[in-house]
Amino acid sequence: MADRSITFSLGQHTLSLRTSPTVFQPNTTTRFLFEAMGDLAGASVLDMGCGVAPIGIGAALSGADRVEAIDVMPEACALAAENAKRNGVESRVVVAQGQMFTPVDSRRFDVIVCDVSGMADRVARLSPWYPPSIPSGGVDGTGPTLAFLHEVERHLCPGGRAIFPVLSLAAPGVIEREAESLFGSRLALMEEHWIPFDPVLRDHLDELRSLRALGVIDFHERRTRQLWMLRVYQVEM
Ligand SMILES: C[S@@+](CC[C@H](N)C(=O)[O-])C[C@H]1O[C@@H](n2cnc3c(N)ncnc32)[C@H](O)[C@@H]1O
Repeated sequence: MADRSITFSLGQHTLSLRTSPTVFQPNTTTRFLFEAMGDLAGASVLDMGCGVAPIGIGAALSGADRVEAIDVMPEACALAAENAKRNGVESRVVVAQGQMFTPVDSRRFDVIVCDVSGMADRVARLSPWYPPSIPSGGVDGTGPTLAFLHEVERHLCPGGRAIFPVLSLAAPGVIEREAESLFGSRLALMEEHWIPFDPVLRDHLDELRSLRALGVIDFHERRTRQLWMLRVYQVEM
């Protein structure tokens, strides 16, 4: 399968994105995270785990002054840079390849959005979003988000905020308990959504029920429907 172009709606914007079968495909989580970012006019923004950069480009189109977009995958970074050009924001979106905060040294931002892989390995591989080439979240899905939470404060400007997701397709509660202990009253739940299983996940229901029984993931079953939970949190400096 070759690279392809898609249009992706994000808030009031319609992005033209080049993507490929071996990078993450923007999805519902992308949209909810972007919405939770709120007013970005004049802000400096860090898009962590940018993939092909829908969020970073959306931020620039929403008036962010400057966006740094980071991903560990060279291919995602190349597509992200091309997509910034396609959408006319290449002068305000800088793409950097590297692990977590490494490419930005000690720089600080007004708004940081974290969308590093937050799904248990096995579920990620069953899902339609994670080709095998993308690093996923480790056995219980929490590793990259926990690493982000431990570093994020020293990259936020005074008054700045960080937005991050918690998916029930990673170990329930592990990230939330760590975030509460790190940030206390500065942590706020912004949104909670229950999202129906994709048909591909439904095809693997027995395995997903076993993972739930082991406490690796969680999801609800209502009659014939299965739903996973997405929470979006904000930390303020
Ligand atoms: C869930 S995808 C999100 C991509 C994009 N934000 C979107 O919505 O389409 C997670 C991205 O995080 C990247 N990633 C995973 N671990 C990372 C790390 N340690 N440092 C930087 N990027 C990472 C993956 O390569 C992947 O592109």
